[in-house]
Amino acid sequence: MRIASLTLDGLAEGLVTDAAPRISFALESDVRGEALASARISSGDWSVETDDQVGTRYGGPLEPHTEYTVTVEATGVTGAVASADATFRTGRLDTPWTATWITDARVAPPEKKASPPPLLLRRSVATRPGIRRAWIEATALGIYELELNGVKVGDRYFAPGLTSYEHHLQYQTYDVTGMLTGDDELRAIVGGGWAVGSFTYHRVNRIAADRPAFLAELHVEYDDGTRETIGTDESWRVATGGRFRMAEWYDGETYDATVDEDALDWAPASLTKPRKKPALIADYGAPVRRQGELTPVARTVAPSGEVVYDFGQNFAGVVRARLRGSHGQTVAFRHAEVLVDGELFVKSLRTAKATATYTCVDGDQEYSPRLTYMGFRYVGVTGIDPDDLELTAYVLHSDLPETGTFESSNELLNKLDAAIRWGGKSNFVDIPTDCPQRDERQGWTGDIAVFASTAAYHFDMSRFFDKWLRDLSAEQSRGGGIPMVVPRAGDKWPILPTACWGDSCVLVPWAEYLARGDVELLRRQYPTMKRFLKAAKRWAGLFSIRPTRRLVWRFPFHFGDWAAPEGGAKDWIAKGKWIATAYFANSAGLLSRIATLLGEEKDARYYAQLRERIVEAFRVVFTDGEGRLKDEFQTGYVLPLHFGMTTDAEGAAMAGHLARLIRDNGGHLATGFPGTPYILFALSDHGRLDQAYDLLLQTDCPSWLYMVAAGGTTVWERWDALRPDGTVNTADLQTGSDDGGGMVSFNHYAAGAVGDWMYRRIAGIEPVAGGYQEFRVAPKPGGGLTSASGSVRTPYGTASASWTLADGEFRLRVEVPVSTTAMVELPDGTVHRVDSGVHTFVG
Ligand code: BGC
Repeated sequence: MRIASLTLDGLAEGLVTDAAPRISFALESDVRGEALASARISSGDWSVETDDQVGTRYGGPLEPHTEYTVTVEATGVTGAVASADATFRTGRLDTPWTATWITDARVAPPEKKASPPPLLLRRSVATRPGIRRAWIEATALGIYELELNGVKVGDRYFAPGLTSYEHHLQYQTYDVTGMLTGDDELRAIVGGGWAVGSFTYHRVNRIAADRPAFLAELHVEYDDGTRETIGTDESWRVATGGRFRMAEWYDGETYDATVDEDALDWAPASLTKPRKKPALIADYGAPVRRQGELTPVARTVAPSGEVVYDFGQNFAGVVRARLRGSHGQTVAFRHAEVLVDGELFVKSLRTAKATATYTCVDGDQEYSPRLTYMGFRYVGVTGIDPDDLELTAYVLHSDLPETGTFESSNELLNKLDAAIRWGGKSNFVDIPTDCPQRDERQGWTGDIAVFASTAAYHFDMSRFFDKWLRDLSAEQSRGGGIPMVVPRAGDKWPILPTACWGDSCVLVPWAEYLARGDVELLRRQYPTMKRFLKAAKRWAGLFSIRPTRRLVWRFPFHFGDWAAPEGGAKDWIAKGKWIATAYFANSAGLLSRIATLLGEEKDARYYAQLRERIVEAFRVVFTDGEGRLKDEFQTGYVLPLHFGMTTDAEGAAMAGHLARLIRDNGGHLATGFPGTPYILFALSDHGRLDQAYDLLLQTDCPSWLYMVAAGGTTVWERWDALRPDGTVNTADLQTGSDDGGGMVSFNHYAAGAVGDWMYRRIAGIEPVAGGYQEFRVAPKPGGGLTSASGSVRTPYGTASASWTLADGEFRLRVEVPVSTTAMVELPDGTVHRVDSGVHTFVG
């Protein structure tokens, strides 16, 4: 038996934390049926005995700036033993900052909708020889990078990340031991980022501060035991007008390498303060880093003369240019997701200019934006001979270990899987965004509400969701509303309860719990969920007298069947009450299950009953009592079917009606965000597996595979983002006219929520108990597939299923991690319960 992984707060190494970390470990063994009997987890004088492999809270001492080693000694049921250890460091804990926030008060706050010029800060630092350890703790209002003697410190982008700045602000810790020479210069560059720069489609700015500001402490510990702290204060010097001339999310970055920064008008820093008093907390999210480098697959010249590079993949990131240039030569890099008639199509970016502009010095040089990112596949370059340019691109997204794989005998399906995966990568840039390219990139709650489960198959989302959910809870209104965008960061919508978008407060932690088994997360988020449901119930009850109607949830506002293929915003919103009532029932049901897990029996009963009453209200108000909706639409059937709101007879009838609607629609789906993730379940789990496959494998518009067949490498916001006639759907949501930029992104993950069905029904793997301690393997072959496989790196180890179908014989191989059990259901109806190990079946 081996300890295959040991993580502290989800990290195998490098954790710096201000809270007692959670310890998890996975075991591997060649012996079938191996499982953990008990483990001793210890650190110094502290130890605990447990039979839990996930999320044991460290209970040892916690002193600031101290390293601790945690040892796990595991004993298996066979008597086998294994041990491993891991270390973490504490951050500041409660240590007060001696540094003060600094800025350049000479610079006027940016005008409306504008972003501020990036701020430069510098200070020289003298240290003695004999340094035992040195580290910098830093944060900013804005986004910053640190440099020591001209070299970037650390490898993250967009620090300190986006949090609800009124409540939380992360600080970063950089180990600089060995980098200090005795006479060094520390520099920082702070761009407007989310806190000061222009953000949201309204282009709100100065969300958390009027000017970029910086806070840092350099800590030096000498061999003789003495310590020194050098913090930001008036002794630092500040300037603007440096090489970074402009930087912001939407318009991009302008960098002039000819600027002599030493010659700028440097002045002593001015002291400042954040407007609110956010808690400064050691990084707890998943930082953005370079995750790969792409090379263009093609280069063409557009009719306009612009040289166009095709990276072959839509993604979020930045170009990396190696250029041979001459002093003052300016090179522009424009970004787009699609080409139309050989030209970059940028109308859909709306106000975002998405351009990086670089002014050269003489000779060979390199440039890559550092204070912005773009969502793109194509880059149009002007101002340089292509022979003088070597262009690649860095893929940027949060650190999210990839945990899932999917493969099938159908190449288009595999491409869809890749597109879904890239949709996640491109939109997990510190927060879950709706899209990475246009003037938005905001934390729309509805998008992640529906995608969370798929995301949790593909990636270890634990740190990422942990951070985002803290903001969600912090920003919940007193009345229980959930912002439509989290962090709100300039969003102007009132904070009210809305279906699906608000249900993210239940759906995201639930998806994360099933994937990673973290009950503590559910416990922490539980009050938020309760408040949300209470608010939903209150709003549902307004303006209705008849008791059944009092659970039909209409007000205050719902996005309804958002982004359905037909109609515009008005039509989607008009579907609000059916969708909201079904989501309400579903969340009440989930809350009942969550309450049970948390030992809140009374609550569990309350929510179970509430759910029953909502289900009844749905039935009475919306259906003929026999499974037919009075007003029929696909999502209207999908939700009650998938949320288990039907009796057997009703279910069969509803599935029939849904199948009819699909047939009448030429074999096409007609669902928006709230229905798309569940339409295949609604069919397959109600005796209509063939129709589910037909819909999945449909290649005409609208369908998933249409996107892929039309060349999409990510999932689109609109089913017909690229219409069959080759035009881009830039239809205005109200007027339908194609004149403006409309609402069309080629990189929105919501419709990619079908990935959930691909894992659960094609590969056949799904968690039953949190973290896959118990899981089901029940592949449902169909659609002409001859093989499929899926694997998930669960907290206990890798769970996988792979099957082949040849000459009528179904063969299945299942891998069950140590300490888990799987219920294997074969297509012939036989069921086998298996413990850890590799098992094969023919059925
Ligand atoms: C976003 C969506 C979001 C929606 C809400 C759009 O602009 O891109 O994905 O959920 O607004 O209506």
